[in-house]
Amino acid sequence: MTEDIELQDYDHEFTHKHLLGLADYSKEDILFVLEQAKYFREILDRPVPKVPTLRDKTIVNLFYEDSTRTRLSFELAQKRMGADVVNFSKGSSSVKKGESLKDTIRNISSMKIDMVVARHKSPGVPHFLTRCVDAAIINAGDGAHEHPTQALLDMFTMRQVYSDLRDKNIAIIGDIAHSRVVRSNIIGLSKLGANVTVCGPKTMMPAYVHELGANVSYNIDEVLDWCDIAMALRIQLERQEDGTELFPSIREYHQLFGITMKHLERYPDFTIMHPGPVNRGVEMDSEVADSERSIILSQVTNGVAVRMAILYLLSGGSRV
Ligand code: CP
Repeated sequence: MTEDIELQDYDHEFTHKHLLGLADYSKEDILFVLEQAKYFREILDRPVPKVPTLRDKTIVNLFYEDSTRTRLSFELAQKRMGADVVNFSKGSSSVKKGESLKDTIRNISSMKIDMVVARHKSPGVPHFLTRCVDAAIINAGDGAHEHPTQALLDMFTMRQVYSDLRDKNIAIIGDIAHSRVVRSNIIGLSKLGANVTVCGPKTMMPAYVHELGANVSYNIDEVLDWCDIAMALRIQLERQEDGTELFPSIREYHQLFGITMKHLERYPDFTIMHPGPVNRGVEMDSEVADSERSIILSQVTNGVAVRMAILYLLSGGSRV
């Protein structure tokens, strides 16, 4: 690691080879990653935001689903750390000629890859990849299962507002049933001692919602009055069998579950987050997304630092 990064005093032995989901990470693991990320966040503000930490590593970004933030953020994190990076997109690959996931990853692995960042529409694909290749696997979103680096960057950003998340009230509003972000956030936030309430239409609330460890509300005013932070979620039409039947219209959804400027006036204290992409006028008013109460773009900036930290730790780094 570079000499000019001061040592930090949060001591923990990080032993993971992969990041498949936050369900596998302890509270101490999560806090350790978030503490490491502070140092990488500081690097991003330097005139030359680069460290040579991964200069001997080769990483493939294996994206079978569309992405803007996660993919660019990982690629930027890898390049900021000097890794050799190759990008795979399903649409321009031999998957279109019938090649299986297993054959694809084994062929890529034969090119001497150290780490794989994988996004796929099917839950469990990152776990499957660990059985196919020897490389470290990072889950960049698997169906509606988990999106662990999104939750880590969300918690990092929340800790910039509240340094300690214990007993903080976090509302997650929107399409709960089809969201991997909500699952990873509930797991992570609960481990850090926060109270989580999910809110959305009954048709978008999973049957197992009470097993997730979150409270449930169907009233947006109730949760906005209660929460310290409100995170809105996009309606995941791509993961719905027939999304049009889950709510009568976008207009009605916005009326019942969208965050509006009136909510900001009525409840003056809560902070607004969103994992992106935002559908303006659906999950929130456009002015809400751009308001001073919104920290959505900070989430994106912090995502690079958090991903640098996890790449560093999974590549064998102990602590910065
Ligand atoms: N938050 C998130 O996963 O965004 P992308 O789909 O653009 O990567």
